[in-house]
Parts: sequence; structure tokens; C-alpha cells
Amino acid sequence: MTSITTAVFPVAGLGTRFLPATKAIAKEMLAVVDKPLIQYASEEAVAAGMDTLVFVVGRTKNAIIDHYDKAYELETELELRKKDEMLAVVQAVVPAHVHCVFIRQSEALGLGHAVLCAEPAIGNKPFAVLLPDDLIYNKGGKSCIQQMVDVYKEKQGSVIGTQIVDRSESHKYGMVGGPKLSDRLSRIDEIVEKPSPADSPSDQAVVGRYILTPAIIEILKSTQRGAGNEIQLTDAIAELRKSEEIYAYNFEGSRYDCGSKIGYLQANVEIALQHDELASDFCDYLKKLNIEPSKDRLKLCK
Ligand code: UTP
Repeated sequence: MTSITTAVFPVAGLGTRFLPATKAIAKEMLAVVDKPLIQYASEEAVAAGMDTLVFVVGRTKNAIIDHYDKAYELETELELRKKDEMLAVVQAVVPAHVHCVFIRQSEALGLGHAVLCAEPAIGNKPFAVLLPDDLIYNKGGKSCIQQMVDVYKEKQGSVIGTQIVDRSESHKYGMVGGPKLSDRLSRIDEIVEKPSPADSPSDQAVVGRYILTPAIIEILKSTQRGAGNEIQLTDAIAELRKSEEIYAYNFEGSRYDCGSKIGYLQANVEIALQHDELASDFCDYLKKLNIEPSKDRLKLCK
């Protein structure tokens, strides 16, 4: 059985919703509490057994490349100052067995095009795609991509991460439809990019986690521009469905859409409330604002 060892991170979008923060850096480098969004995603992939991380980068590539490169000067300085804990934090960004590849998407032609750009690093093997601006958190449980790898192992077909949303939001997502196979799993019979609520096949929306068979690459080569005049991964998946079974998996966990300001703020609050050093002080601060954290979160307060 082919295991999933390659993870693609398309990080070449323009990030217009976060301007001016994203004028010089990719939105995936924005920090949630103390870690850039991209690192949440790369850690999720590595923990699920992936050892080849492919970053499809755009005009704001430098900070991302630097983040995954060895930082000789910083590491030497931390060593000299005996800041061993911080040195370990810096060195853990790329574990020793992990290999990073950077590929340039010279024009932001869409997510489908970004995935196609990764072709030289993917080869003829199934691979994962993680959109770091979807921060997915499942404290104490399996990560979203790990849950999907488990489904892939069983089904040996492409698996798309999904979530139930309010139907009125369908115009923001790829939407899927198809018969339910078990509690969280269904077969995809239909997939449409950003339909109006009336045209949406269901209330099940695609989120930024995919496991794809390599056949998608050939399809992407002939995929025409679709919604938003971009080459859409969703359109290529709709084409792939004609020749292979594809599954939708409603992951267990919480998703924060960090491509939007409100989702990004929510992620910061939620992660701060789970943070070993910060949770207690942050809870006190919320109480001062007269915001009472819910019961399960109160446990984290002093
Ligand atoms: P978004 O749809 O969020 O677009 O991309 P965006 O350009 O990043 O952000 P806004 O809407 O202008 O604020 C979804 C994911 O696909 C990547 C993005 O980096 C993000 O991870 N992407 C998108 C690319 O890598 N290349 C593209 O051409 C488009």
C-alpha cells in the first residue's frame, strides 16, 4: 500500500483580505499566538507521517523559505546566551528526517494551478494538500490530516476534508453532495465551487485538507479557469470523480478560517486559552473584560 509521505502547502495566494499585513509577507506567516500559521500545518503533516514538505510560494516567499531554513546566526546566538529551550524550539521547526522543497508559482492563477506547480516534487504518488490558513485543532485527539490518512488507508481513494456549514455560506466554499457511508464518511457524487445556496448540493463544505491520487495532476493540466477566473482544484476533483471514487470526510475538531480576520482572531483566542504558559493570565484578562469563558475552558483558568 502506498503511504502518504508528501504534503503540499499552497502558500502563493495574494492574501488580499489581510492587506496591509500581507504586503510583504505571506498570510501563512501570520502568527497565531507564537507560531506562524504555516507551522501549525507542517507539524500536522509531519505528525501524520509525512516527510517531504512542498511549499508552493509566491512573491512573498522569503520569510517562508527562511522559516524552514537553518538559522545559523540565531542558533549560535541562542547557544551563547544559554537559551537552550528557545534553541530547541527553533531547531524543531524542521525535524531531522524532514525534507523541504520550495516551488515558485509565478502568477497567482488559483489553488488548482498552485497544486499543479508542485508536480515535479509529487511524482506518481498520492499526496496531501494542506491550506495553512485553515487552522484545524483537535486537542487531545487525532489531527484532521491524520484522520484523513486513516480513511485513505481503508478506501485507497482521494479523501476531501469537509465540514457542515450554514447553507447560506455555500458561496464561500466548494460544496459536495453524495450518499453517506458512515457517521463521518460519504461518497462524493457532486462537487461545485462556490455555488449559491439554491444550487448547492448539500450543506457539506470543503475545507483546506485533501488527500489526492496522482491522477489529479494530469486533469489539472487541462482544467480551465472557473469561479473567480482561477484554476480551481474543485473543478479538477469533479473531473477526477468521473474515473475514481472520491470520499468526503467530516473531520473531528474545530476549524478556524484564518484567511478571514474574524477567524484569525477566534483562533488566537482559542489557542491562547489552550496555551500552557498563557491560558491562566489570558483567562484573567477575559474576565476583566467581563467575558466569562465557557465551563470547559474555565478549567484552564487559575
Ligand atoms: P484563498 O482563496 O484564501 O486566496 O486561497 P488568497 O489569495 O490566499 O487570499 P485572499 O482571498 O486574497 O485574502 C486559498 C489557499 O490557496 C493558496 C493560498 O495561499 C491559500 O493557502 N493559493 C491561492 C495559492 O497558493 N495560489 C493561488 O494562485 C491562489
